[in-house]
Amino acid sequence: MTIEPDAHTAEHRLKTMHQRLGGIAYGGDYNPEQWPREVWLEDAKLMQRAGVNLVTLAVFSWSRLETADGVYDFGWLDEVMDLMHEHGIGVDLATPDAVPPAWLIAQHPDILPVLADGTTFGFGSRQHFDVSHPVYRKKAMAIAERMGEHYASHPALRMWHVGNEYGPVSYGPHADKAFREWLQRKYSSLDELNQAWSTDVWGQLYSDWSQVNAPAQPRTWSNPSRRLDYHRFTSDSLLEHYKAERDILRRHTPDLPIVTNFMRFYKTNDYWAWAAEEDAVALDIYPDPRDEDAHVAAALNFDLMRSLRKGQPWLVMEQATGAVSQWPVNVSKLPGKMRLGSYQAIAQGADSILFFQWRQAKGGTERFHSGMVNHAGPNTRIFHEVCELGQELKNLAGITGTRSTARAAVVFDWDCWWALELGNSPRSDLSYTQEVLRLYRPLFDANITVDFVDTKSDLSAYSLVVLPASYLLTDEVAARIEQYVHDGGRLVVSYLSGIVDQDNTIRLGGYPGALRKVLGAWSEEMHPLAGEGEEVKLELADGGAGSASYWTEHLHAETAEVLASYSSGRLAGSPAITQNRFGSGSATYISARVDSGVLHPLLLDECAAAGVVPLLEALRGVQVRRRSGDGKSYLLVLNHNDAPASVDVLDGGMDLLSGSRVQGTVEVPPFGVLVLEESVSEESVTAEATR
Ligand code: GLA
Repeated sequence: MTIEPDAHTAEHRLKTMHQRLGGIAYGGDYNPEQWPREVWLEDAKLMQRAGVNLVTLAVFSWSRLETADGVYDFGWLDEVMDLMHEHGIGVDLATPDAVPPAWLIAQHPDILPVLADGTTFGFGSRQHFDVSHPVYRKKAMAIAERMGEHYASHPALRMWHVGNEYGPVSYGPHADKAFREWLQRKYSSLDELNQAWSTDVWGQLYSDWSQVNAPAQPRTWSNPSRRLDYHRFTSDSLLEHYKAERDILRRHTPDLPIVTNFMRFYKTNDYWAWAAEEDAVALDIYPDPRDEDAHVAAALNFDLMRSLRKGQPWLVMEQATGAVSQWPVNVSKLPGKMRLGSYQAIAQGADSILFFQWRQAKGGTERFHSGMVNHAGPNTRIFHEVCELGQELKNLAGITGTRSTARAAVVFDWDCWWALELGNSPRSDLSYTQEVLRLYRPLFDANITVDFVDTKSDLSAYSLVVLPASYLLTDEVAARIEQYVHDGGRLVVSYLSGIVDQDNTIRLGGYPGALRKVLGAWSEEMHPLAGEGEEVKLELADGGAGSASYWTEHLHAETAEVLASYSSGRLAGSPAITQNRFGSGSATYISARVDSGVLHPLLLDECAAAGVVPLLEALRGVQVRRRSGDGKSYLLVLNHNDAPASVDVLDGGMDLLSGSRVQGTVEVPPFGVLVLEESVSEESVTAEATR
């Protein structure tokens, strides 16, 4: 039995869009205003050849759509929308707020964002706005209103794309005012703010609200609690802007999905808060082709995107067919890698494969960023790969809407990220995302599907929860984590967790303050290892040995058992890894950066103890994922290695790419992919329908 999502829910809007597109969305950004009209028709025909069913229009078109204050010209866009419709191609229409036009900046130069050091950005790139500027906001809303009104009933319109990669941070006068108002909503009094920001340190006490402003560049180091609030304010104020445009479009088109595009490892915006306001999470992903391990960081980002809206399928909004133009050396993707990366996203829950951009630009900043059609034209390797992928994806329509399930979760939290990297801490080179990646990697390598959760999430659905460098934990969160373990959960915590409260104030009485009780261990001092390549030796309780580098701390076990101790260095004899039985669960503390020979087996043992099993046993670099739902189940096998890989797919299924049945041990070619439609028993369909 299929449960129909309610009309007017995000799920319903997406489902309807995919039905109208005929399955997976395929296409990319299209910027016809950069080309003469005769190219438009050729584009439409080539799009049909490539199997394109969706293009994103108008992302950077504000100056062509509003040519002077209040003078709107939608004629050219009408023509393009009609052309797309005539060729059976849907449109994801953008509001162009990323590029306030030159005439608007000339009238209001203070729309331009101001850096912390007081420098004002110039005109001539994009995202050149301070989102708190009242005229910018008014004009952005006005064009969104006009576009909503004008295109609501256009037959090609399938989805809205609000703005582009929201992110400009400003420290100018408009931001000052908006920050002050944000703080007045957060703190009931100035005393409360003074307390939260520890302003007695270095005599920073405020005696009137008018003295409080954005943390512009001070003479020397700046207050970390104030800067943390500024991160929160920036994310909130950009989100408010997005929501205001979204609400305008929603009034005109209640049945269409509305999204904006997210970025990989993007620190400015708290994507948990953002995702809750989207109809779907949409990601722009540009792994560096020079990095052979790029698929692991990509996997982390894909799992994060899948998790942000609790497993709902998400969209690849942009990726490149070949080279980008943002690295020092821009290498093109190897043949087959664009296809492999696309299937990786699908395996991890994406229901679209879209590129930036359709036709490679011949001028402007990104003239060397590859397109679906490159400078050389359609008779190229890249266009052939684009067409082949477009044809293949037509066989995968059934996968849209299906989901993955996970019994292990990793915490990813923007408050922790912001607070950890504010500097003036025991190390200034701390990277939150690298700490998360370090603990995610063993699970990825073992083909254990994980969800990401934020610190506010309900953990009870998971039998294993990993907390990497979860630096900021509120009392309420710490209590819930404790309860989770007490009720039988298995918890793994890494160093620099639970150090501060919501105000970025240190928790006293031994690190990791918030988790001391559940871990049954405490540290009296942090001991980062300063020397390049400096290592200390570890002795494991099971008789093994290992090493730690980068981070150690002087740990004491209270109720916890010691799993590893230092056997060299100033902490020789002290514990490095502990495990505490707490209620019916257990909490493991990895207080040092231990080598992968220690970390990987430790995490896999934890998985085994929690009953979390790999989807399939496979060679490193062979990724396996399952998506299921609606009585269907798909097993996707991806070979990220540059050599063939033998994989036992057990019962296997029908390979939707080759059209043949596959079972038992099969050889997957280098960068090859299997998409196996598995047979699903009656019982599992019933179990799923009643879940
Ligand atoms: C981003 C932007 C695009 C384009 C690509 C390629 O994701 O949204 O407009 O610039 O990067 O660099």
